[in-house]
Amino acid sequence: MNKPFSQACENNKVAILAALADSFSTSKTVLEVGSGSGQHAVFFAPNMPWLSWQTSDILVNHQGIGQWLREYPAGNLLYPIELDLNHPWPIEKIDAVYTANTLHIISWPLVQAFFSGVSQHLNQQGKCCVYGPFNYQGQYTSESNAGFDIWLKERDSQSAIRDIEAIIAIAESVGLSLENDHAMPANNRLLVFQKLA
Ligand SMILES: C[S@@+](CC[C@H](N)C(=O)[O-])C[C@H]1O[C@@H](n2cnc3c(N)ncnc32)[C@H](O)[C@@H]1O
Repeated sequence: MNKPFSQACENNKVAILAALADSFSTSKTVLEVGSGSGQHAVFFAPNMPWLSWQTSDILVNHQGIGQWLREYPAGNLLYPIELDLNHPWPIEKIDAVYTANTLHIISWPLVQAFFSGVSQHLNQQGKCCVYGPFNYQGQYTSESNAGFDIWLKERDSQSAIRDIEAIIAIAESVGLSLENDHAMPANNRLLVFQKLA
């Protein structure tokens, strides 16, 4: 069976890595939420060998992630655990969390569950990096993002490009502070949160 493939992951992985390598420079363990195809994980793990990279997703994606991990194994890259944001997270404490292109797919209650889980499982001073498109002051940052949002909502009425102000407010309500907001290619952002001591 062919592996799942995301062209977007191939396009954005180099820019994301540059920001992650800095934010995760002192982290030892990273949990990726919603690993999708697994393409980010197989690129990031060998390029940040000081980290242990734990993939995760809902069960339906595990086979595809496994195909990528078997083809591109790395000593610090771990096969997926089943992490469904509807349920408690099956992990203890971690130094960092990474998620890409998930917050506009999942429902708003699951966005809240994501940040609650991050707050619960992240060590003090731990980092949480969130990649994807966001709106600022209720405005799209590009025509393409406006069109993407229409497409998302037609596909699933619970999906939507999120307002960055609402994301920051949820994060702050659970003890996470926005440390950086990097511009990324194709009108995306990489938000870096830190858990306050
Ligand atoms: C658009 S894909 C992004 C995948 C990958 N991170 C990327 O950048 O290509 C959205 C991801 O969110 C995951 N997801 C959807 N619902 C979820 C849930 N309830 N709990 C955890 N992950 C979920 C999907 O399985 C999928 O991996």
